[in-house]
Amino acid sequence: MSRSQAWYAGDDRNAYIHRAWMRRGLPRDAFDGRPHIAIANTASDLTPCNAHLTEVAKSVADGIWAAGGVPLHLPVVSLGETLMRPTAMLFRNLAAMATEEMLRANPIDGVVLLGGCDKTIPALLMAACSVDLPALVVPGGPMLTGHFRGVPLGCGTDVWRLSEEVRAGTLSREDFMRSESSMIRSRGHCNTMGTASTMACVTEALGMTIPGLAGTPAPDSGLLEMAHQSGRLSVSMVADDRKPSTVLTRESFLNAIVALAAIGGSTNAVVHLLAIAGRLGVPLELEDFDKVGSGVPLLVDLQPAGKHLMDDLHRAGGLLAVLREVADLLSPEPITVTGEPLVSYLDAAKIWDESVIHPRSAPLQDSAGIAVLRGNLAPSGAVIKPAAATPELLTHRGPAVVFDSIEDLNARIDTVDDENAVLVLRGCGPKGYPGMPEVGNFPLPAPLLAKGVRDMVRISDARMSGTAYGTVVLHVAPEAAAGGPLGRVRTGDIVVLDVPNRRLEVAADLSARPVSEEASAAFAAPERGWQRLYVDHVLQADRGVDLDFLTGGGQATPTRESH
Ligand code: FES
Ligand code: MG
Repeated sequence: MSRSQAWYAGDDRNAYIHRAWMRRGLPRDAFDGRPHIAIANTASDLTPCNAHLTEVAKSVADGIWAAGGVPLHLPVVSLGETLMRPTAMLFRNLAAMATEEMLRANPIDGVVLLGGCDKTIPALLMAACSVDLPALVVPGGPMLTGHFRGVPLGCGTDVWRLSEEVRAGTLSREDFMRSESSMIRSRGHCNTMGTASTMACVTEALGMTIPGLAGTPAPDSGLLEMAHQSGRLSVSMVADDRKPSTVLTRESFLNAIVALAAIGGSTNAVVHLLAIAGRLGVPLELEDFDKVGSGVPLLVDLQPAGKHLMDDLHRAGGLLAVLREVADLLSPEPITVTGEPLVSYLDAAKIWDESVIHPRSAPLQDSAGIAVLRGNLAPSGAVIKPAAATPELLTHRGPAVVFDSIEDLNARIDTVDDENAVLVLRGCGPKGYPGMPEVGNFPLPAPLLAKGVRDMVRISDARMSGTAYGTVVLHVAPEAAAGGPLGRVRTGDIVVLDVPNRRLEVAADLSARPVSEEASAAFAAPERGWQRLYVDHVLQADRGVDLDFLTGGGQATPTRESH
């Protein structure tokens, strides 16, 4: 008997209640055992990148009907990256937990997950893994490229670039304001290889989308066709009992890490993949990203590391064309939601524009990926994306200038006049802020910008926007607010960054020092609600920033009946 039949089958009072309230146009045979598929939809006017998903949901529903299932629209918590304070990341686990509970509590047999903006796909995947019902993702797709005075604009990336130009005095504030109306050309998520694009591609590499779907631009008719196909597929996935735990093995995650490196994806994928793996109890560690990813060539020339944008990647052949180039680095075993191995889709893929997707024989960089650093400043690790950094700064030694909070940084950053300084920001980790905001790519001191300095070594327990760039060490763990050595560094300490040797050190005995009182005073101390629960239970960056009680395998069965 199917899962939904545990509600609907039979002629007793409870089955009557379950059916009767659902019969608002649904015929009696809608409850005869055919799959009931939820469409978990993160469309929201306050998540503008996902606002079009209601139209996508309609195509998914048509596909579910066409395959003999019953579609059920399920609006779920949605997280808008640009608007939410203190940071959308604070609510990723809340969205995941709420969605998990809705999937478990309701009579559904499978789910189609509609996400796009940065945190939405990770939250949906975490939820789906925890109930382990047949599930697949339809990523909402990137927006088309807008132009300002003939120059294509990369969402996010060019906001950072243009605002630095204003601070450096090379762009007027008036022109900066003018560019605003050109930044967002269409529906869809950021068109750079930021977190949203990265997570869509990584989700496909994990096997959790129909292969070839990720990166299809939001306004493209192909997206609706693929949404329809995804709806149909969800029905057969129920028949085949193909669940996240069937698709997502350790090898799937390692394939995703290869993809992450080859596309030059966002550092945020590290915390999201660790969290998703954690939900299934699949063993995955921070070092896996370095071990597996660092030998992978960078093939995709997209902002923020390069120049093109997501619709260019789509027209150049998309993720499958990228993966075909690194097929020898992929494990052949992992299957996708279709039941077929990921690698079986690669033969048909082809690169149509080698300036966007470089062939393996001419990579943009021989080794990409994310480097994992350790040392007395980051005993549990820190990450840096060398492809987005200044090569000369990857080995650097300089005096620390320490900021205890983002407010402290904003107040004092322009007093720094030593371009060799290492800028250290703390109190911005999961507990300290709370929510680990994207402030790790903080702006450079204005006096140095005016001198032409465009990058400096920055270190923090924060994340950075996937659309950002620079020699930025992130995710330092443990964070200052969890008692990490970052809370003990002082201005003037010599910091040694040695990316080739994966070291992040301070030339001082930090263990002998107390945590700075100014730093502690700046840590968040929420008294109630979600923030309180979060701060009490959140894990550090090396564990995916999930809540400690949400890791490990879940199950799909509700605990008790309701009537
Ligand atoms: Fe939504 Fe960038 S703000 S994807
Ligand atoms: Mg972001």
